[in-house]
Amino acid sequence: MLETFSFNLPTRIEFGNGQIHNLTEYVRELGGTKVMVITDKGLNQSGIVEKVTVLLEEDGINFVTYDNTKPNPRDQDCMEAYLLAQQEQVDLLIGLGGGSSMDTAKAVGVLLTHGGKIKDWYGLNVLNKPITPLICIPTTAGTGSEITFFSVITDTSTKLKMNILDYRVAPKIALLDPELTVTLPPSITASTGMDALTHAIEAYTCNLSEPITDALALYAIDLIVKNLSQAVTNGQNLEARRNMLVGSLIAGIAFGNSDVGGVHCMAEALGGLYDTPHGVANSMLLPYVFEYNIPSNVEKHAVVAKLLGANTDGKTTEEIAFEGVSQLRELANEVGIPKMKDLENIKVEDFDYLAEGATQNVSAPSNPRVAKKEDYYQLFLKAYEGK
Ligand SMILES: [Fe+2]
Repeated sequence: MLETFSFNLPTRIEFGNGQIHNLTEYVRELGGTKVMVITDKGLNQSGIVEKVTVLLEEDGINFVTYDNTKPNPRDQDCMEAYLLAQQEQVDLLIGLGGGSSMDTAKAVGVLLTHGGKIKDWYGLNVLNKPITPLICIPTTAGTGSEITFFSVITDTSTKLKMNILDYRVAPKIALLDPELTVTLPPSITASTGMDALTHAIEAYTCNLSEPITDALALYAIDLIVKNLSQAVTNGQNLEARRNMLVGSLIAGIAFGNSDVGGVHCMAEALGGLYDTPHGVANSMLLPYVFEYNIPSNVEKHAVVAKLLGANTDGKTTEEIAFEGVSQLRELANEVGIPKMKDLENIKVEDFDYLAEGATQNVSAPSNPRVAKKEDYYQLFLKAYEGK
């Protein structure tokens, strides 16, 4: 845990069922006269995009929709969205969807205000002014991107995920409406929920954890563990949906102010190379990295294990911590996350490249136990073999 710390929450949060109906009020408040809704084709086809654009239309706000966002968004996708935004003289962005849409919207905001190419802005605090005002509306309970200061973009030249890390990419408003998440299919509810759980666990256990993020992360773990299965099995359960959205939001605030660790380092390497959905990648790797990290802080891992439902009867702190590994495996199983071996495109011969990618990740120094390339290689192998 850090000796000294700071905590930042530059994004205003508006949360509640039906909250979406206040959208145009927020657009006007932020001075938006030409809005671009950045989203994906699936959401467009599901009718959720129309639920949002009809509000803009009825209130006489000019808008254009970009619905070509892809999972694991690439630099060239961001450039395509940016060129449209520039041509349409957009002055306010709405990121509507999962992390991919919101991260693309952040990147478009960077390009609109800073120009150049997206790779010019990778890194920590490289920006020099605020980005175009951005409202983020998550339709999954997972990424936390509505509240974080990062945009994660796949660089097509290296197939590595790169980060723009800057307080200036934080959305002005995070608008969270649980009703928008009830139609999310079970498999995406499961994978995005496991992403949120990974955020909370890594925020709590990583080297940059501090008292405020610890408090938030523990609350988020508890909420997610108690509600994920219910949200997966009955998507219409609005209470479970609400709790998941609160959990992912709070996990986002926590890891945005501390960091993630080895799970994300490995998952981002996987996602960059194979386009593996981010939450699936995290979920497949989480038990193995959790197990690897236990010696770094047995007590903290035992606290997580208890929240995961570990049996504590007659067990030492260390034994309880290791119980967390099986709890994580069981939860992933229960919500239907595939095994790494079942994903046809993943090949053991790529593990060297993936391990190198994990060591280069910007969050690698935050993992609580030092992990070298060989350690990541072994972790990929263990996860693949399901040991
Ligand atoms: Fe994540």
